[in-house]
Amino acid sequence: MGSSTNKPELIVNGKRLDGRGFADLRPMKIIAGGLKNAAGSAYMEWGNNKVLAAVYGPKEALPKHTQDPDKAVIKCKYSMAPFSSLEEHNRSGPNRRAIEISKVTREVFEKVILREDFPGSEIDIFIEVLQSDGGTRAAGITTAAVALATSGIPMTDLPYAISVGKVGDTLILDLNKAEDNYSDADMPIAIGPRNNDILLLQMDGSLTKEQISEGLTMAKKAGESVARLQREALKAPYERILEKYKI
Ligand code: CDP
Repeated sequence: MGSSTNKPELIVNGKRLDGRGFADLRPMKIIAGGLKNAAGSAYMEWGNNKVLAAVYGPKEALPKHTQDPDKAVIKCKYSMAPFSSLEEHNRSGPNRRAIEISKVTREVFEKVILREDFPGSEIDIFIEVLQSDGGTRAAGITTAAVALATSGIPMTDLPYAISVGKVGDTLILDLNKAEDNYSDADMPIAIGPRNNDILLLQMDGSLTKEQISEGLTMAKKAGESVARLQREALKAPYERILEKYKI
């Protein structure tokens, strides 16, 4: 959220600046796989965001003191490429924001990966933002879920994430960067669609209890199309094989 000085009008004649309605998502494309050396990978474009996710492991957790004898430890690294936006120019290790996003992303996947199947191991999730335009943590989680699925690591659900924002008293979905900077609230949510479990809920700004509940309903409804796209991306390579051999 930015300051109110020079704040642009984010809603004009009932439309957002990019022409979307309040509950419309930006266009999305997901490709499963692609990185040969990774156990699993995926690439996603969500509006102007371009995100790549790679999964390595399960493998012996190193250094040894990071091991958990009962279950796999999940390690997650989110980073923005130095050329991904106008703001991020250098890379001298992760900044506070990247550490925070890595942590909340890890916590989402700790809730769905069957970690007990891999005692003593680690599973590494890398998220690289190649181009950013607001909502990269949501895009990162959505992409990483597909990457994990391609790796065959068992999960109880295939999470996706989406952000809900507020402009004045109006709730909007899937904030782009301008909306993220100047909205009155921003609430990124990760959802496990099997039972609509809330796996992450963050909040910048403030929303009333009613707005939170309405925002969750909007996110879950629009999220059905995100979940569908993730599954289609996972099926696509197999469908291509079936088509090729006319099975
Ligand atoms: O990307 P997300 O909305 O999850 O995170 P944010 O911290 O709310 O940042 C919003 C947007 O600001 C990002 O998506 C980037 O486009 C931009 N940003 C940036 O360009 N450089 C930074 N160091 C931080 C944010």
